[in-house]
Amino acid sequence: MRRYHSGPDFRRAHSIAELASMARQRLPHFAWEYLEGGAEEELTLKRNRQAFADISLLPHTLIPCTAARTQRSLLGTTLPLPLAIGPTGYNGMLYRDADIHLARAATERGLPFTLSTVSTSSLEQIVAAVPEVNLWFQLYCLRDPQVQQDLLQRATAVGCKTLLLTSDAVLLGNREWDKRNFVRPRQLSLRNTLNVLRHPRWMKQTLWPHGLPNLANIERYLPAEHRTVEGAAHFIGSQMDTGLDWDALARLRDRWPQHLLLKGVLHPADAEKAIALGLDGLVISNHGGRQLDGVPASIECLPAIAAVAKGKLALLLDSGIRRGTDILKACALGADAVLLGRATLYGVAVGGQAGAGHALDLLTQELRLALSLLGQPDLSQLDSRRLRLNPLSSFTVS
Ligand SMILES: Cc1cc2nc3c(=O)[nH]c(=O)nc-3n(C[C@H](O)[C@H](O)[C@H](O)COP(=O)(O)O)c2cc1C
Repeated sequence: MRRYHSGPDFRRAHSIAELASMARQRLPHFAWEYLEGGAEEELTLKRNRQAFADISLLPHTLIPCTAARTQRSLLGTTLPLPLAIGPTGYNGMLYRDADIHLARAATERGLPFTLSTVSTSSLEQIVAAVPEVNLWFQLYCLRDPQVQQDLLQRATAVGCKTLLLTSDAVLLGNREWDKRNFVRPRQLSLRNTLNVLRHPRWMKQTLWPHGLPNLANIERYLPAEHRTVEGAAHFIGSQMDTGLDWDALARLRDRWPQHLLLKGVLHPADAEKAIALGLDGLVISNHGGRQLDGVPASIECLPAIAAVAKGKLALLLDSGIRRGTDILKACALGADAVLLGRATLYGVAVGGQAGAGHALDLLTQELRLALSLLGQPDLSQLDSRRLRLNPLSSFTVS
């Protein structure tokens, strides 16, 4: 039976699940549901975990346990691990300056950090606070071409060389917890307001003295009187380009000569289109189960995509990564690297930079141990022959 440590010291957490349990206690209910929740029945959210459990590992024995080799060549650089922190919006609601803490934790470990369009620290603030950061930027396609162009110019100006266009969230998924927790946009229900008052440590650390943080990246595009959380939320809702299509991606390819990745791919035919457009990478992702409920787990979609795309562009995967063995399974099925979403958010929510670092270190230790115990200490030699797929699962490996 799993027992989760529930004390306040995140350094004593032995797993991402324990960090999650601590984050749940530290955060007010509405912020916890924002972090943890999925869309509708949360079928995809659950599937993301179950699909990893449906894959077994098949070790060879009597292989000397040499130190695991986990380096990965990705988008022209060598990373110490097949890992990057993925884009998540509104992180400052979990912990003050959370984006900066995440960027520092990643940079200390030689890993990339991805800033969301809807972040609470701006591109410029991240680079000023963490000059060494390997900064990736996630773009939501916005209707106003000038805003879009300005975001790209700012990303270039701060030295960002990798852009991820998110394609699976032009409409917001049906997140019922959001509707329950707020009586109207950005106004908490009475019950949630009372619940906030029962979290004085979070209030002091995150709210005091200015209240909820603004969306710093896009704030400048709002009229001065609307530079509030409500104004930014409304702006983003009205600006999301629902006409985003392959032609728009082709135009973006022309405008952004550096690394361009498409985030939100689940179908191999879309992977083939991305290759034809000359993209540099894909993120196989279902947005952590927060968008269309009922889609397969990303890991279930990986083998078919790897069959058409492996070696032609970088293959990244996210959604449901909570263990080193999940990273191992993704790499064995063809991913070059994985993006972390909630795993590092739990860490930052309980301990800022050190908490996010603890999450990264837990996953690193687990990955290294798993490679050694599998009898395949060299990640670059790992392939799907070391896996057994549950016959009842929907996987096929070609
Ligand atoms: C709280 C939260 C906010 C997110 N915000 C964004 C975002 O702004 N842009 C984006 O492309 N994806 C966003 N995502 C999706 C993540 O990039 C990623 O796809 C997802 O978290 C992976 O699933 P996991 O959290 O189970 O690992 C968000 C996810 C969460 C949990």
